[in-house]
Amino acid sequence: MKKSAITFFFLLFSGYYLVAQPLPEQIKMNRFIDELMAKMTIDEKIGQLNLPVAGDITTGQASNTDVANQIREGKVGGLFNIKTAQKIAEIQRIAVEESRLGIPLIFGMDVIHGYKTTFPIPLGLSCTWNPEIIEQSARIAASEASADGICWTFSPMVDLSRDPRWGRISEGSGEDPYLNSVIAKAMVRGYQGADLAKDNTLMACVKHYALYGAAEGGRDYNTTDMSRLSMYNVYFPPYKAAVDAGVGSVMASFNEVDGIPATANKWLLTEVLRNQWNFNGFIVTDYTGINEMTAHGMGDLQTVSALALKAGIDMDMVGEGFLTTLVKSLKEGKVTEKDINTACRRILEAKYKLGLFDHPYQYCNTQRAENEIFTPANRRQARAIASESFVLLKNENQLLPLNKNQRIAVIGPLGNNGLNMAGTWSVATDFDQAISLLQGLKEAATNPELITWAKGSNIVHDSALEARVSIFGKDTYRDNRSSAEMLNEALKLAANCDVIVAAVGEAAEMSGESSSRADIGMPDAQQELLKALVATGKPVVMVLFTGRPLTLTWEEANIPAILNVWFPGTEAGTAIADVLYGQTVPSGKLTTSFPRMTGQIPLYYNHKNTGRPLGEGEWFSKFKSNYLDVPNDPLYPFGFGLSYTTFQYSDLKIDKTTLKPTENLKVQVTLKNTGNYDAKEVVQLYLRDKVGSITRPVKELKKFEKIFLKKGETSIVEFSLNIEDLKFYNSNFEFEAEPGSFTLFVGGNSRDVLQVDFELSE
Ligand code: BGC
Repeated sequence: MKKSAITFFFLLFSGYYLVAQPLPEQIKMNRFIDELMAKMTIDEKIGQLNLPVAGDITTGQASNTDVANQIREGKVGGLFNIKTAQKIAEIQRIAVEESRLGIPLIFGMDVIHGYKTTFPIPLGLSCTWNPEIIEQSARIAASEASADGICWTFSPMVDLSRDPRWGRISEGSGEDPYLNSVIAKAMVRGYQGADLAKDNTLMACVKHYALYGAAEGGRDYNTTDMSRLSMYNVYFPPYKAAVDAGVGSVMASFNEVDGIPATANKWLLTEVLRNQWNFNGFIVTDYTGINEMTAHGMGDLQTVSALALKAGIDMDMVGEGFLTTLVKSLKEGKVTEKDINTACRRILEAKYKLGLFDHPYQYCNTQRAENEIFTPANRRQARAIASESFVLLKNENQLLPLNKNQRIAVIGPLGNNGLNMAGTWSVATDFDQAISLLQGLKEAATNPELITWAKGSNIVHDSALEARVSIFGKDTYRDNRSSAEMLNEALKLAANCDVIVAAVGEAAEMSGESSSRADIGMPDAQQELLKALVATGKPVVMVLFTGRPLTLTWEEANIPAILNVWFPGTEAGTAIADVLYGQTVPSGKLTTSFPRMTGQIPLYYNHKNTGRPLGEGEWFSKFKSNYLDVPNDPLYPFGFGLSYTTFQYSDLKIDKTTLKPTENLKVQVTLKNTGNYDAKEVVQLYLRDKVGSITRPVKELKKFEKIFLKKGETSIVEFSLNIEDLKFYNSNFEFEAEPGSFTLFVGGNSRDVLQVDFELSE
């Protein structure tokens, strides 16, 4: 037989011809890891799966701690929540120079919305509807964190949530699967850049997989119970988008999914994530996620550790379940050496991709740390991005913008509070440098003396509740004076001003992890303050700080102007001043619906219709799906946000009324800036699939475009749709479009839209 024929049969029988050829770089990596793993003992392999928190390791002490000894013994794969190039270099040196095989550590951190230069909380960032600047924020975060020793971030958090009681709604991008997916991709691109091995990029970790935002009752860590169709059609897309964008790692969530905690859920971690979505990075647990499965009722530490490994977990955060039980489980046949090898290989691959084997100290460049962190350029970006995240909810009689000669009384517990401006998850923020609203206005006004401040009230009356929200050291500066004393001081100030700027809302840690609220109204003490301020008859602008939608029914009815600024980050005061004075025209739009009452939750725009829906504009009708005491609709709908200018939508056109599966549908709408300011507008396109084999939402966001128009200017905005935009998972979990009627809507929010119908043909 000829040589080529022999090769042919060899390939045929080996099945080799069926497999995609690995790239040369991958062959090199595989060879390197094969050689390394051949030298590793089983204990060293298990060591790679262990991720302790750095705790108190500090320079000079590192060599004396337990963790340092564990590193020396090859029992640690990485560390997290430690920073500075110098400290990390010192610890890396223990791994590289003092452990038997010199395998470098991976250093992670919760770099969530910026590093030292802190951007708005993710929910705020999402309200920019501007993936480009969101990507830039992640890029800046990556360059700062990587200059400080870090190479791995536990971000993006893409947990879709329809429940603002859940405190961690602040860490995500709201209630919409499509917008969440677009943002997930932008974040991954921003962190990881084009080359993970470069010294200024971070490996991203999409979290918390999966459904963490669907906790029952909005109570953190609580059970989720959901149909698989809702998982695939609503909650999964953002995680998948991050995987499609090449995210390097995934974090499993604390909650159960379909009756099994995510951390031990093989269907979720292996079948969906790896087999269906082709994820090829590594999976880390959340903080003690393995140990917590004992309380979930899954067994003792040995049992749950084995379950987690078998399900597809590669790295164990903090709990040391893998470290302390896997050898025993191996001996007892509960896990195999192959299971351990697979996980170990994935961790080593991540380190290889980060360039750590060639350059273990590449993220520890003290020179870069000095020059590239919290630079004026980064801060300028943070200011611009923050001002784009603010959502103008009300502006009666164009009270805003203010002018720089007005006497402004800033009143409220958040008016002079730099410490709370960064919001939740701001581990690397320098709080002393965060700019308060008072400071920002004083700097921008023609004369700083025009701006005065009084606290007016505490955050809440209940001191025990207030103590619970400052446990992370973000002081709320509780005042021991009586409410009457504080109010009197504020009213005196108000008497001598042209306009009151009420700086009210939540303290930074009233949202975030383990900060669920059962009542999402304005805190009581501030509600009383607002009533007293409105009663003065002076114009009141409410600047709202919050990490979640609040029920603002009274505020909407009684306060002439409301600007929601979320938690804007280190440049809070300057960015808010830019918008209050009209230097920047607000262009943020809500990414979560604002309910009128907590009892309406879950309330979201892309809901199903029921068999007894209310008619347009109807509140109550007997035997229809409604409440006796509150309308069905939200106070502010998804996509809503005002501007200082006005926009007019007209002439919604499509280029065909019947779309063939192979064609594109061209959509055009005319947008005119009809007001007095140059401004940006987010043009939103929604679809309704009117008849389906399963019930379909009344509206779904499919496209959006942020457009800048000068005053008086008109533009034709174009979108193109194709069959991919019409697809959904049907009862057989096939992702398909179904022929039939669709309605297409375009507008400036999910409620006020123009509409046109079309058909999808067979
Ligand atoms: C949170 C994660 C975070 C981890 C590490 C956990 O409590 O749920 O979001 O990444 O801690 O800090």
